[in-house]
Amino acid sequence: MKLRRLGRTGPQVGRLGLGCMGMSDFYGPADRDESLATLRAALDAGVTLIDTGDFYGSGHNEMLIAEGLRGRRREDVVLSVKFGALRDPSGGWAGYDARPQAVKNFLSYTLKRLGTDYIDIYRPARLDPQAPIEDTVGAIADQVKAGYVRHIGLSEVGAATIRRAAAVAPIADLQIEYSLIARGIEAEILPTCRELGIGITAYAVLARGLLSGHWSQARNDAPDSRQTAPRFVGDNLEHNLTLVEALRGIAKAKGASVAAVAVAWALSRGDDIVPLVGARKRAQWAESSAASELALSAEDLAAIEAAIPKGAAKGERYTAYAMAHLDSERNVSLQTDVN
Ligand SMILES: NC(=O)c1ccc[n+]([C@@H]2O[C@H](COP(=O)([O-])OP(=O)(O)OC[C@H]3O[C@@H](n4cnc5c(N)ncnc54)[C@H](OP(=O)(O)O)[C@@H]3O)[C@@H](O)[C@H]2O)c1
Repeated sequence: MKLRRLGRTGPQVGRLGLGCMGMSDFYGPADRDESLATLRAALDAGVTLIDTGDFYGSGHNEMLIAEGLRGRRREDVVLSVKFGALRDPSGGWAGYDARPQAVKNFLSYTLKRLGTDYIDIYRPARLDPQAPIEDTVGAIADQVKAGYVRHIGLSEVGAATIRRAAAVAPIADLQIEYSLIARGIEAEILPTCRELGIGITAYAVLARGLLSGHWSQARNDAPDSRQTAPRFVGDNLEHNLTLVEALRGIAKAKGASVAAVAVAWALSRGDDIVPLVGARKRAQWAESSAASELALSAEDLAAIEAAIPKGAAKGERYTAYAMAHLDSERNVSLQTDVN
């Protein structure tokens, strides 16, 4: 697999990463053996960037990854870990904590669960409105100095917060939703990252499966987080599935899968973008990773743009509760009020 560098100061990684969230949380039950086989298949195919969050299954995802990496050389893998989201025993949300003392605490548990003595990229999952971003980034920078972290990342923050963070320490990448139906970053966030030399790890490139070519009205019977996600409900879903059908026509003409075209589109948006594939089955990985070898011509890209113009999808990308925690969806940093 070809390589891409994450930002001016970040590590080189295979140009597709693997996001492991769905192997532990949010998308209904996952098959443990199949998840591990998917992780190994991705690594064998040249993936180096493995993304997780300490709150994915409240630690389950990190322990699963540790098992999947057993027997591999640590230096062949780039571990990206998000922290700060608080969970309760029932899996509910209990806010965010990215204060300096929380950074140290979360990191110490993550190192143990992953069975490693350093994390390649460590990032707060969301902006903690109670903790100035300078304090959070400064605390991670201390862990870089101490050798427990190699690079600092951000997640779902807006341009003002990115600038404040980058003034404290080098930022390798911003992890943020970016897909054919989630192009909000193109206005301000992506240009800001480019100006500052910060890479992008794009998540939900398949819009959580909606753009996979396998989603249908019937799939919404499954009791997972997508059942209430605005793009997956009612008329919104019906409309959004018509966009997928338009994409299917283009994919068919190229002899490719819908998923591969959607991932290839994300790859085509710039050498500073590394899409995270969210596969949790080997067949999904095979289908999506075909994007790595799928060249999209200028005509293909124009046809895709015509099929799914910017802003074509109906429904917000998160529920109202979750949207309220996205600094990336605000014009002004959430922290302008925090002294
Ligand atoms: N920073 C953040 O706020 C944030 C938020 C969300 C995710 N992330 C990270 O980004 C990663 C990717 O996000 P995502 O999992 O939502 O990505 P995605 O690739 O948009 O969706 C993945 C889901 O789509 C379905 N799918 C169907 N066909 C597929 C195919 N051919 N290839 C891959 N998936 C297919 C699978 O669900 P079924 O098996 O149910 O069909 C799979 O779990 C996550 O794992 C996580 O590491 C970060």
